[in-house]
Amino acid sequence: MITAQVTAHPSEPSAVAAPPILSVQGLSVEFPGPNAAIRAVGDVSFSMPAGEILALVGESGSGKSVTALSILGLVSAPGRLVGGSVQFEGRKLTDLPEHEMARIRGRRIGWVSQTPRASLNPSFKIGRQIAAVLAACSPDLKGSAVDRRIDALLRPLGFTEPARVTSAYPHQLSGGMCQRVCIALALAGDPIMLIADEPTTALDVSVQAQILSLLHQLNAERGLSILIITHDLAIVSALSHRVMVLYGGQVQETGPTAEVLADPAHPYTRALIAAIPDSTTFDGRIPQLRGQAEPPIAGVPGCRFAARCDHAFVACHQTLPSAHAAGHGGRVRCHLHQPVGSP
Ligand SMILES: Nc1ncnc2c1ncn2[C@@H]1O[C@H](COP(=O)(O)OP(=O)(O)OP(=O)(O)O)[C@@H](O)[C@H]1O
Ligand code: SF4
Ligand SMILES: [Mg+2]
Repeated sequence: MITAQVTAHPSEPSAVAAPPILSVQGLSVEFPGPNAAIRAVGDVSFSMPAGEILALVGESGSGKSVTALSILGLVSAPGRLVGGSVQFEGRKLTDLPEHEMARIRGRRIGWVSQTPRASLNPSFKIGRQIAAVLAACSPDLKGSAVDRRIDALLRPLGFTEPARVTSAYPHQLSGGMCQRVCIALALAGDPIMLIADEPTTALDVSVQAQILSLLHQLNAERGLSILIITHDLAIVSALSHRVMVLYGGQVQETGPTAEVLADPAHPYTRALIAAIPDSTTFDGRIPQLRGQAEPPIAGVPGCRFAARCDHAFVACHQTLPSAHAAGHGGRVRCHLHQPVGSP
Protein backbone atom coordinates (compact mmCIF):
# COMPACT_ATOMS: atom_id res chain seq x y z
CA MET A 1 0.00 0.00 0.00
CA ILE A 2 1.29 3.47 -0.83
CA THR A 3 1.04 5.67 2.23
CA ALA A 4 0.82 9.45 2.17
CA GLN A 5 2.45 12.16 4.24
CA VAL A 6 -0.29 14.69 3.64
CA THR A 7 -3.83 13.64 4.31
CA ALA A 8 -5.77 15.70 1.79
CA HIS A 9 -5.71 14.31 -1.72
CA PRO A 10 -5.44 17.18 -4.17
CA SER A 11 -8.63 18.28 -5.81
CA GLU A 12 -8.60 18.52 -9.59
CA PRO A 13 -6.89 21.62 -10.96
CA SER A 14 -9.48 24.34 -11.32
CA ALA A 15 -8.55 25.34 -14.85
CA VAL A 16 -8.19 22.05 -16.70
CA ALA A 17 -10.06 23.49 -19.69
CA ALA A 18 -7.70 26.49 -19.86
CA PRO A 19 -4.82 26.57 -22.35
CA PRO A 20 -1.76 24.79 -20.98
CA ILE A 21 0.60 26.90 -18.90
CA LEU A 22 3.44 24.64 -20.02
CA SER A 23 3.67 22.69 -23.24
CA VAL A 24 6.68 20.54 -24.06
CA GLN A 25 6.86 19.07 -27.56
CA GLY A 26 9.38 16.53 -28.81
CA LEU A 27 12.09 17.58 -26.37
CA SER A 28 15.38 15.76 -26.99
CA VAL A 29 18.71 16.26 -25.23
CA GLU A 30 21.97 14.48 -25.96
CA PHE A 31 25.32 14.08 -24.21
CA PRO A 32 28.40 12.73 -25.94
CA GLY A 33 29.05 9.08 -25.05
CA PRO A 34 32.18 6.93 -25.51
CA ASN A 35 30.98 5.47 -28.84
CA ALA A 36 27.66 7.14 -29.61
CA ALA A 37 25.57 9.98 -28.23
CA ILE A 38 23.54 9.38 -25.06
CA ARG A 39 19.97 10.53 -25.69
CA ALA A 40 19.18 11.46 -22.08
CA VAL A 41 15.79 12.89 -23.07
CA GLY A 42 14.16 11.42 -26.16
CA ASP A 43 11.17 13.05 -27.80
CA VAL A 44 9.44 13.98 -24.53
CA SER A 45 6.06 15.68 -24.97
CA PHE A 46 3.53 16.74 -22.34
CA SER A 47 1.34 19.67 -21.33
CA MET A 48 0.28 21.04 -17.97
CA PRO A 49 -2.92 23.02 -17.47
CA ALA A 50 -2.57 25.96 -15.08
CA GLY A 51 -3.01 24.82 -11.49
CA GLU A 52 -1.92 21.24 -12.06
CA ILE A 53 0.53 19.27 -9.94
CA LEU A 54 2.39 16.84 -12.19
CA ALA A 55 4.78 14.29 -10.69
CA LEU A 56 7.73 13.07 -12.74
CA VAL A 57 8.99 9.67 -11.59
CA GLY A 58 11.52 7.09 -12.73
CA GLU A 59 14.71 5.35 -11.68
CA SER A 60 18.01 7.11 -11.28
CA GLY A 61 19.30 8.12 -14.72
CA SER A 62 15.87 8.04 -16.38
CA GLY A 63 16.16 11.68 -17.46
CA LYS A 64 14.04 13.51 -14.86
CA SER A 65 16.54 16.24 -14.00
CA VAL A 66 17.67 16.76 -17.59
CA THR A 67 14.01 17.17 -18.61
CA ALA A 68 13.55 19.87 -15.93
CA LEU A 69 16.83 21.58 -16.78
CA SER A 70 15.96 21.70 -20.46
CA ILE A 71 12.58 23.33 -19.73
CA LEU A 72 14.48 26.00 -17.78
CA GLY A 73 17.17 26.46 -20.42
CA LEU A 74 19.82 25.20 -17.99
CA VAL A 75 21.32 22.24 -19.84
CA SER A 76 25.01 22.98 -19.98
CA ALA A 77 27.74 21.67 -22.27
CA PRO A 78 28.54 18.99 -23.22
CA GLY A 79 24.77 18.40 -23.10
CA ARG A 80 22.72 20.02 -25.86
CA LEU A 81 19.14 20.34 -26.94
CA VAL A 82 18.86 18.48 -30.24
CA GLY A 83 15.14 18.88 -30.84
CA GLY A 84 11.80 20.03 -29.58
CA SER A 85 10.28 23.12 -28.07
CA VAL A 86 8.98 24.45 -24.74
CA GLN A 87 6.10 26.92 -24.52
CA PHE A 88 5.31 28.64 -21.22
CA GLU A 89 2.44 31.12 -20.84
CA GLY A 90 2.31 31.25 -24.63
CA ARG A 91 6.01 32.13 -25.08
CA LYS A 92 8.43 29.79 -26.78
CA LEU A 93 11.17 29.46 -24.16
CA THR A 94 13.43 27.49 -26.46
CA ASP A 95 13.75 30.60 -28.68
CA LEU A 96 14.48 33.08 -25.89
CA PRO A 97 17.93 34.56 -25.27
CA GLU A 98 19.51 33.78 -21.87
CA HIS A 99 18.86 37.24 -20.38
CA GLU A 100 15.10 36.77 -20.97
CA MET A 101 15.17 33.21 -19.63
CA ALA A 102 16.92 34.52 -16.53
CA ARG A 103 13.96 36.87 -15.93
CA ILE A 104 11.47 34.01 -16.26
CA ARG A 105 13.42 31.80 -13.83
CA GLY A 106 12.60 33.13 -10.38
CA ARG A 107 9.87 35.58 -11.39
CA ARG A 108 7.51 33.24 -13.29
CA ILE A 109 9.02 29.80 -12.66
CA GLY A 110 10.56 28.97 -9.28
CA TRP A 111 13.28 26.32 -9.47
CA VAL A 112 14.45 23.98 -6.73
CA SER A 113 17.56 22.16 -7.87
CA GLN A 114 18.41 18.57 -6.91
CA THR A 115 21.69 19.92 -5.50
CA PRO A 116 20.53 22.69 -3.15
CA ARG A 117 23.85 23.42 -1.42
CA ALA A 118 25.56 23.88 -4.77
CA SER A 119 22.89 26.35 -5.86
CA LEU A 120 23.50 28.63 -2.84
CA ASN A 121 26.28 31.21 -2.95
CA PRO A 122 28.82 30.12 -0.30
CA SER A 123 30.05 33.70 0.17
CA PHE A 124 26.80 35.32 1.32
CA LYS A 125 24.56 34.84 4.32
CA ILE A 126 21.17 33.30 3.63
CA GLY A 127 19.26 36.48 4.51
CA ARG A 128 21.24 38.46 1.95
CA GLN A 129 20.59 35.82 -0.74
CA ILE A 130 16.83 35.87 -0.16
CA ALA A 131 16.83 39.68 0.00
CA ALA A 132 18.60 39.79 -3.38
CA VAL A 133 15.81 37.74 -4.97
CA LEU A 134 13.18 39.98 -3.35
CA ALA A 135 14.98 43.11 -4.58
CA ALA A 136 14.92 41.75 -8.14
CA CYS A 137 11.33 40.47 -8.06
CA SER A 138 9.59 42.89 -5.65
CA PRO A 139 11.57 46.17 -5.88
CA ASP A 140 8.85 48.08 -3.98
CA LEU A 141 9.57 46.06 -0.86
CA LYS A 142 11.88 48.07 1.44
CA GLY A 143 13.35 48.01 4.95
CA SER A 144 11.44 46.08 7.58
CA ALA A 145 8.94 44.86 4.93
CA VAL A 146 11.79 42.81 3.45
CA ASP A 147 12.50 41.25 6.85
CA ARG A 148 8.83 40.45 7.36
CA ARG A 149 8.62 38.83 3.91
CA ILE A 150 11.72 36.71 4.59
CA ASP A 151 10.21 35.66 7.91
CA ALA A 152 6.93 34.76 6.16
CA LEU A 153 8.81 32.69 3.59
CA LEU A 154 10.90 30.75 6.12
CA ARG A 155 8.40 29.95 8.89
CA PRO A 156 6.09 27.70 6.80
CA LEU A 157 9.21 25.76 5.79
CA GLY A 158 9.76 24.67 9.38
CA PHE A 159 12.22 27.37 10.50
CA THR A 160 10.89 28.40 13.89
CA GLU A 161 13.70 30.94 14.40
CA PRO A 162 14.24 32.48 10.93
CA ALA A 163 16.83 34.96 12.26
CA ARG A 164 19.22 32.08 13.02
CA VAL A 165 19.02 30.95 9.40
CA THR A 166 19.24 34.36 7.77
CA SER A 167 22.44 35.14 9.70
CA ALA A 168 24.10 31.86 8.64
CA TYR A 169 26.31 31.03 5.67
CA PRO A 170 25.34 27.96 3.59
CA HIS A 171 28.20 25.88 5.05
CA GLN A 172 26.70 26.38 8.52
CA LEU A 173 23.43 24.68 7.48
CA SER A 174 22.52 20.99 7.23
CA GLY A 175 21.55 19.49 3.85
CA GLY A 176 17.87 19.59 4.83
CA MET A 177 18.14 23.25 5.86
CA CYS A 178 19.78 24.12 2.51
CA GLN A 179 16.96 22.28 0.75
CA ARG A 180 14.34 24.36 2.61
CA VAL A 181 16.23 27.61 1.96
CA CYS A 182 16.22 26.76 -1.75
CA ILE A 183 12.44 26.28 -1.61
CA ALA A 184 12.17 29.71 0.06
CA LEU A 185 14.32 31.23 -2.70
CA ALA A 186 12.17 29.54 -5.37
CA LEU A 187 8.99 30.93 -3.81
CA ALA A 188 10.42 34.41 -3.04
CA GLY A 189 9.59 35.73 -6.52
CA ASP A 190 5.97 34.63 -6.10
CA PRO A 191 6.14 32.46 -9.24
CA ILE A 192 3.16 31.06 -11.09
CA MET A 193 4.92 27.73 -11.52
CA LEU A 194 7.33 25.72 -9.41
CA ILE A 195 9.68 23.06 -10.77
CA ALA A 196 11.12 21.13 -7.85
CA ASP A 197 13.68 18.35 -8.28
CA GLU A 198 13.55 15.97 -5.30
CA PRO A 199 12.73 18.87 -2.95
CA THR A 200 12.30 16.80 0.22
CA THR A 201 14.92 14.03 -0.01
CA ALA A 202 17.09 15.36 2.82
CA LEU A 203 14.22 16.07 5.22
CA ASP A 204 12.86 14.13 8.16
CA VAL A 205 9.28 12.95 7.81
CA SER A 206 7.66 15.69 9.91
CA VAL A 207 9.38 18.54 8.02
CA GLN A 208 8.67 16.74 4.76
CA ALA A 209 4.97 16.58 5.64
CA GLN A 210 5.02 20.30 6.49
CA ILE A 211 6.53 21.17 3.10
CA LEU A 212 4.18 18.93 1.16
CA SER A 213 1.27 20.57 2.97
CA LEU A 214 2.65 24.00 2.05
CA LEU A 215 2.91 23.02 -1.63
CA HIS A 216 -0.60 21.62 -1.51
CA GLN A 217 -1.84 24.86 0.06
CA LEU A 218 -0.05 27.07 -2.51
CA ASN A 219 -1.60 25.01 -5.28
CA ALA A 220 -5.10 25.05 -3.82
CA GLU A 221 -5.17 28.69 -2.72
CA ARG A 222 -2.99 30.45 -5.29
CA GLY A 223 -3.19 28.04 -8.20
CA LEU A 224 0.56 27.45 -8.21
CA SER A 225 1.34 24.92 -10.96
CA ILE A 226 3.90 22.39 -9.75
CA LEU A 227 6.14 19.98 -11.64
CA ILE A 228 7.63 17.82 -8.92
CA ILE A 229 10.35 15.24 -9.47
CA THR A 230 10.49 12.48 -6.90
CA HIS A 231 11.41 8.85 -6.37
CA ASP A 232 8.83 8.59 -3.63
CA LEU A 233 5.50 7.20 -4.80
CA ALA A 234 3.92 8.15 -1.45
CA ILE A 235 4.63 11.80 -2.33
CA VAL A 236 3.27 11.24 -5.83
CA SER A 237 0.11 9.76 -4.35
CA ALA A 238 -0.38 12.49 -1.76
CA LEU A 239 0.42 15.54 -3.82
CA SER A 240 -0.03 15.13 -7.55
CA HIS A 241 -3.02 15.24 -9.85
CA ARG A 242 -1.18 13.46 -12.63
CA VAL A 243 1.93 11.31 -12.89
CA MET A 244 4.40 10.86 -15.73
CA VAL A 245 6.74 7.87 -15.69
CA LEU A 246 10.10 8.22 -17.44
CA TYR A 247 12.43 5.41 -18.43
CA GLY A 248 15.43 5.71 -20.70
CA GLY A 249 14.63 9.38 -21.28
CA GLN A 250 11.20 8.61 -22.71
CA VAL A 251 7.70 9.02 -21.29
CA GLN A 252 6.48 5.46 -20.74
CA GLU A 253 3.17 6.14 -19.03
CA THR A 254 1.13 9.12 -17.99
CA GLY A 255 -2.30 9.55 -16.47
CA PRO A 256 -4.31 10.60 -13.42
CA THR A 257 -2.28 9.71 -10.33
CA ALA A 258 -4.83 7.71 -8.36
CA GLU A 259 -5.82 5.66 -11.41
CA VAL A 260 -2.25 4.98 -12.57
CA LEU A 261 -1.11 3.90 -9.10
CA ALA A 262 -4.18 1.67 -8.69
CA ASP A 263 -3.97 0.14 -12.17
CA PRO A 264 -0.59 0.76 -13.83
CA ALA A 265 -0.53 -0.21 -17.49
CA HIS A 266 3.21 -0.27 -18.29
CA PRO A 267 5.34 -3.21 -17.12
CA TYR A 268 7.93 -0.70 -15.81
CA THR A 269 5.39 1.25 -13.76
CA ARG A 270 4.10 -2.03 -12.36
CA ALA A 271 7.64 -3.01 -11.38
CA LEU A 272 8.25 0.38 -9.70
CA ILE A 273 5.08 0.00 -7.62
CA ALA A 274 5.82 -3.65 -6.81
CA ALA A 275 9.25 -2.61 -5.47
CA ILE A 276 7.69 -0.59 -2.61
CA PRO A 277 7.97 -2.54 0.66
CA ASP A 278 4.57 -3.25 2.20
CA SER A 279 4.81 -3.77 5.96
CA THR A 280 1.58 -5.78 6.02
CA THR A 281 2.79 -8.43 3.58
CA PHE A 282 6.60 -8.16 3.82
CA ASP A 283 8.17 -11.64 4.03
CA GLY A 284 11.81 -10.64 3.65
CA ARG A 285 11.67 -10.37 -0.13
CA ILE A 286 10.91 -7.34 -2.27
CA PRO A 287 10.32 -7.91 -5.99
CA GLN A 288 13.22 -6.29 -7.82
CA LEU A 289 13.65 -5.17 -11.37
CA ARG A 290 16.23 -7.40 -13.01
CA GLY A 291 19.26 -5.85 -14.64
CA GLN A 292 20.27 -2.23 -14.63
CA ALA A 293 19.09 0.81 -16.51
CA GLU A 294 21.64 1.42 -19.27
CA PRO A 295 22.31 4.91 -20.64
CA PRO A 296 19.97 5.36 -23.62
CA ILE A 297 22.13 5.27 -26.75
CA ALA A 298 20.75 7.41 -29.57
CA GLY A 299 19.51 5.43 -32.55
CA VAL A 300 19.13 2.03 -30.81
CA PRO A 301 15.81 0.57 -32.02
CA GLY A 302 13.02 -0.95 -29.96
CA CYS A 303 11.55 -0.37 -26.53
CA ARG A 304 13.99 1.18 -24.04
CA PHE A 305 12.76 -1.25 -21.37
CA ALA A 306 13.01 -4.43 -23.49
CA ALA A 307 16.19 -5.83 -21.87
CA ARG A 308 14.54 -5.84 -18.44
CA CYS A 309 10.93 -6.56 -19.31
CA ASP A 310 9.41 -9.95 -18.46
CA HIS A 311 6.85 -9.49 -21.24
CA ALA A 312 9.23 -8.58 -24.06
CA PHE A 313 8.67 -10.27 -27.42
CA VAL A 314 10.40 -9.96 -30.79
CA ALA A 315 8.85 -6.64 -31.83
CA CYS A 316 9.94 -5.03 -28.55
CA HIS A 317 13.61 -5.33 -29.61
CA GLN A 318 12.95 -4.01 -33.12
CA THR A 319 10.34 -1.27 -33.03
CA LEU A 320 9.86 1.66 -30.68
CA PRO A 321 6.33 1.37 -29.28
CA SER A 322 3.95 4.29 -29.79
CA ALA A 323 1.92 5.81 -26.97
CA HIS A 324 -1.52 4.20 -26.82
CA ALA A 325 -4.65 4.99 -24.79
CA ALA A 326 -4.60 3.21 -21.42
CA GLY A 327 -7.56 1.97 -19.39
CA HIS A 328 -6.86 4.54 -16.65
CA GLY A 329 -7.54 7.41 -19.05
CA GLY A 330 -3.89 8.25 -19.74
CA ARG A 331 -1.34 6.96 -22.25
CA VAL A 332 1.11 4.08 -22.24
CA ARG A 333 4.11 3.44 -24.51
CA CYS A 334 4.03 -0.35 -24.88
CA HIS A 335 3.33 -2.80 -27.71
CA LEU A 336 1.06 -4.80 -25.41
CA HIS A 337 -1.42 -1.93 -25.49
CA GLN A 338 -1.50 -1.51 -29.24
CA PRO A 339 -5.16 -1.55 -30.30
CA VAL A 340 -6.14 -4.77 -32.08
CA GLY A 341 -6.05 -4.34 -35.85
CA SER A 342 -3.76 -1.26 -35.87
CA PRO A 343 -0.57 -1.61 -38.01
N1 LIG B 1 26.72 16.07 -17.33
C1 LIG B 1 26.42 14.92 -17.95
N2 LIG B 1 27.32 14.32 -18.76
C2 LIG B 1 27.02 13.18 -19.43
N3 LIG B 1 25.81 12.55 -19.35
C3 LIG B 1 24.90 13.10 -18.54
C4 LIG B 1 25.15 14.31 -17.81
N4 LIG B 1 24.02 14.61 -17.11
C5 LIG B 1 23.13 13.64 -17.40
N5 LIG B 1 23.66 12.73 -18.26
C6 LIG B 1 22.97 11.56 -18.83
O1 LIG B 1 21.58 11.79 -18.75
C7 LIG B 1 20.94 10.71 -18.10
C8 LIG B 1 19.78 11.27 -17.31
O2 LIG B 1 20.31 12.04 -16.22
P1 LIG B 1 19.34 12.74 -15.17
O3 LIG B 1 20.22 13.53 -14.29
O4 LIG B 1 18.25 13.45 -15.86
O5 LIG B 1 18.73 11.49 -14.40
P2 LIG B 1 17.67 11.50 -13.21
O6 LIG B 1 16.46 10.76 -13.70
O7 LIG B 1 17.44 12.88 -12.75
O8 LIG B 1 18.40 10.61 -12.13
P3 LIG B 1 18.48 10.80 -10.50
O9 LIG B 1 17.20 10.18 -10.00
O10 LIG B 1 19.67 10.01 -10.13
O11 LIG B 1 18.59 12.25 -10.20
C9 LIG B 1 22.03 10.04 -17.28
O12 LIG B 1 21.81 8.68 -17.15
C10 LIG B 1 23.26 10.28 -18.10
O13 LIG B 1 23.34 9.24 -19.09
S1 SF4 C 1 6.97 -2.70 -25.46
FE1 SF4 C 1 7.59 -4.79 -24.98
S2 SF4 C 1 9.51 -4.59 -23.81
FE2 SF4 C 1 8.49 -2.60 -23.83
S3 SF4 C 1 7.33 -2.56 -21.95
FE3 SF4 C 1 5.94 -3.27 -23.55
S4 SF4 C 1 6.11 -5.51 -23.49
FE4 SF4 C 1 7.85 -4.71 -22.32
MG1 LIG D 1 17.93 13.87 -11.03
